[in-house]
Amino acid sequence: MSTDSKYTRNNPYHSRVLVNQRMTLADSEKETRHYELELEPGMHYTPGDAIGILPENRPHAVHEVLETLGYTGEERVLDHYKVEISLHEAVRTRLGIGKLSRGSVTALAKMADGHPKADELRKYTLPENRSLAEEYVWGREFIDLITEFPGILKNPQDLFTVLQRLTPRMYSIASSQEMNPNAVHTIVRVIRYDTHGRERQGLCSGHLAERAPHGYKMPVFLHENKNFRLPEDTNAPVIMIGPGTGIAPFRAFLQHRQALGHKGKNWLFFGEQRQASDFLYQSDLEAWHKDGLLNNFHTAFSRDQKQKVYVQDRMREHAAELYKWLEEGAYFYVCGDASRMAKDVENALLDAIAMGKHGTLDDANAYLAEMKKQKRYQRDVY
Ligand SMILES: Cc1cc2nc3c(=O)[nH]c(=O)nc-3n(C[C@H](O)[C@H](O)[C@H](O)COP(=O)(O)OP(=O)(O)OC[C@H]3O[C@@H](n4cnc5c(N)ncnc54)[C@H](O)[C@@H]3O)c2cc1C
Ligand SMILES: NC(=O)c1ccc[n+]([C@@H]2O[C@H](COP(=O)([O-])OP(=O)(O)OC[C@H]3O[C@@H](n4cnc5c(N)ncnc54)[C@H](OP(=O)(O)O)[C@@H]3O)[C@@H](O)[C@H]2O)c1
Repeated sequence: MSTDSKYTRNNPYHSRVLVNQRMTLADSEKETRHYELELEPGMHYTPGDAIGILPENRPHAVHEVLETLGYTGEERVLDHYKVEISLHEAVRTRLGIGKLSRGSVTALAKMADGHPKADELRKYTLPENRSLAEEYVWGREFIDLITEFPGILKNPQDLFTVLQRLTPRMYSIASSQEMNPNAVHTIVRVIRYDTHGRERQGLCSGHLAERAPHGYKMPVFLHENKNFRLPEDTNAPVIMIGPGTGIAPFRAFLQHRQALGHKGKNWLFFGEQRQASDFLYQSDLEAWHKDGLLNNFHTAFSRDQKQKVYVQDRMREHAAELYKWLEEGAYFYVCGDASRMAKDVENALLDAIAMGKHGTLDDANAYLAEMKKQKRYQRDVY
């Protein structure tokens, strides 16, 4: 089934928040939350899809930007579609005032003729100073730029030249519509940090955590991901590697297989920092293991012992069985961190294949290439 085409990122559905619940305990180093969002009849998704959420800048940040620029917010501007709106609305819902981009620095520098700090600002735009500019924007937001270089922006409409458009954020869907006909579940890790003397929040994750209580409506759209799908053969075994928020699509897969009575075997590897505070969907996963939907279930709680243990360590401990499943035609899925985890998991997979085949790494790479061709190696990493 494909996603409903009536609602798109430019014509989103205004979905009601049904559940907004913290999953990690208070003593966790992370704040990861579970959301349930209501869908209109006729909106469809398939396990593996994502939901796009259009966030809003937080009131405090909007106020700070308007105040620093000396505007009331009642000024009129034209949005990206040339529709007239108030400046307050523009800064709240249309413009990315969060994470500063080099593009914004360059655009402001172009408007700085005659400004006493023009040269200082322009140094960040020189081709030879790219790394200096990267260093400058890191951990800064638009408010830092206009505080440090005040009085350059002359016209509220110029904000549309300087700032990028506020873009939707994607979240992997953590439910099957077979079990939740009118809702979509997702999990979000909330980003909070302090830099350059200010307390910061991820734009969308912060908005969801602090300003999306039960009953709140927010613009969303379903995003199809045809490259992350359960096997068409419902008897095929699946192996799922989903540390952290990477667990989301696998909860959707398992709900789906349970609801439809798929006979294929299921094997899940889950990892987080601490079992006591960070075991996402613990009751679902343990129940599925107990009732046999999950034939194999391995966890890696990285910070529960001196030496870090990751999902790939568990894969290595079970390499022989893993290879056996692959030989039985298992599909292998990875979701979560793209920066390190995905590569490390791939290396563990290659080692398991090489060992199973009594072959070399080249043999294992050829085996993996064949799996990719058969769509038996799928990744959803971010
Ligand atoms: C297909 C897909 C699926 C996804 N699924 C999920 C999911 O299921 N769950 C989930 O939580 N996320 C998921 N994401 C990530 C999600 O889309 C957002 O990128 C994430 O929530 C951050 O968005 P934000 O608006 O809260 O933060 P933003 O405002 O975009 O800020 C994030 C940025 O802040 C900066 N930053 C973060 N920490 C620090 C720090 N300590 N110091 C300095 N700078 C820092 C980094 O530059 C980072 O890129 C997915 C992404 C994709 C593409
Ligand atoms: N775009 C964004 O800003 C954004 C927002 C949310 C999430 N994300 C990303 O989404 C991913 C998931 O985040 P998350 O907080 O849910 O989980 P995560 O950071 O991936 O952490 C989950 C578990 O994986 C472990 N881990 C760390 N490095 C690993 C590696 N190389 N191989 C295997 N496991 C490893 C962690 O251990 P330790 O922590 O003990 O090392 C933890 O136990 C991360 O990449 C995160 O940065 C990005």
